[in-house]
Amino acid sequence: MFSWFLSRLKIRYATQKDYRHIERLLDNNWAVQARLFRDDIREKLTELITVIAEDRTAMRGLLMVEPIPPFLGLITVVAFHDNTNLTTTLDAMIPAVEDKLKENQIHCLTQVGGDMWFAQELPKHGFTVRERIVIFEWHGLSLPYLRPHPCLHIRSAHIDDLPQLQVLDQLTFSPMWYKPKTTLREALGKAAFFSVGVVEDKIVAYQWSDVYSEQGHITRLATHPDYRGQGIGAIMLHDAMRSLLDLNIKIVGLNTQESNTDSQRLYQKFGFQQVGEPIGVYEKAIINATFSEL
Ligand SMILES: CC(C)(COP(=O)(O)OP(=O)(O)OC[C@H]1O[C@@H](n2cnc3c(N)ncnc32)[C@H](O)[C@@H]1OP(=O)(O)O)[C@@H](O)C(=O)NCCC(=O)NCCS
Repeated sequence: MFSWFLSRLKIRYATQKDYRHIERLLDNNWAVQARLFRDDIREKLTELITVIAEDRTAMRGLLMVEPIPPFLGLITVVAFHDNTNLTTTLDAMIPAVEDKLKENQIHCLTQVGGDMWFAQELPKHGFTVRERIVIFEWHGLSLPYLRPHPCLHIRSAHIDDLPQLQVLDQLTFSPMWYKPKTTLREALGKAAFFSVGVVEDKIVAYQWSDVYSEQGHITRLATHPDYRGQGIGAIMLHDAMRSLLDLNIKIVGLNTQESNTDSQRLYQKFGFQQVGEPIGVYEKAIINATFSEL
């Protein structure tokens, strides 16, 4: 079992028995950032890469990373005890995460956004800003009128669409943003709305939208590269927005890359406006490779 001491700090992978101490760390300290609910943290403790730093008196640090093969490990939970030096503790924990990512043939450790205290730490540990994400919101204005597409048919997505959806996803997004098959499968069951645009029996577009606390979220919108510029993206977005409005949703949010001006033009046509500051996407290359080299 992986374990070593740095001065008096011990680094190891978590077991299910650690949950009680982890909960205490999360509850009682200020340097805590979690993308998972508590139930998910408990459930995924050993499924994700969970590294713990501890000394004789207490748990000092926690890092949970979700491996998303083949390209990235996404930091999902990070927490430190108040009386802990973040820089030295992170320095000790990151190699343990890297070892597991290497075992999984994953080349990159990634952090999306995050609190300032953590963002400030990342450059000290070899992370650079890869790109920036912008947030858009729609606040209950009317939807634009769209001309129908002559041969597009929209229907709910189902599990048999999974292979085509995965191909379309990989044709549409850069590797960093691919959704693994498991995530797409889960979304088919859990998303508020998941629909596909079909032309002559071929899935050429899809949208996946969710509802969180009475707010809609366009999680994914994609048109096959050969079918872009025909109004299909707009029709898929309209369909998603219509479904959300039918639930009496008044606010809809989404994220897109700062460099993705095509999607931003489409969203602005619908009345979406950029809100807040762009969010940094930080990456640290592992095994001497970065996404751009893959
Ligand atoms: C963003 C995306 C979904 C847009 O899909 P699309 O099907 O090309 O979207 P549309 O055709 O509705 O709109 C694109 C452009 O085509 C124009 N258009 C609409 N109907 C058209 C037609 N019949 N002929 C030519 N152009 C047309 C639109 O006016 C729009 O032009 P504009 O950008 O200058 O305003 C697509 O580019 C994509 O999949 N991108 C990669 C994934 C992504 O970025 N998703 C969004 C972030 S999650």
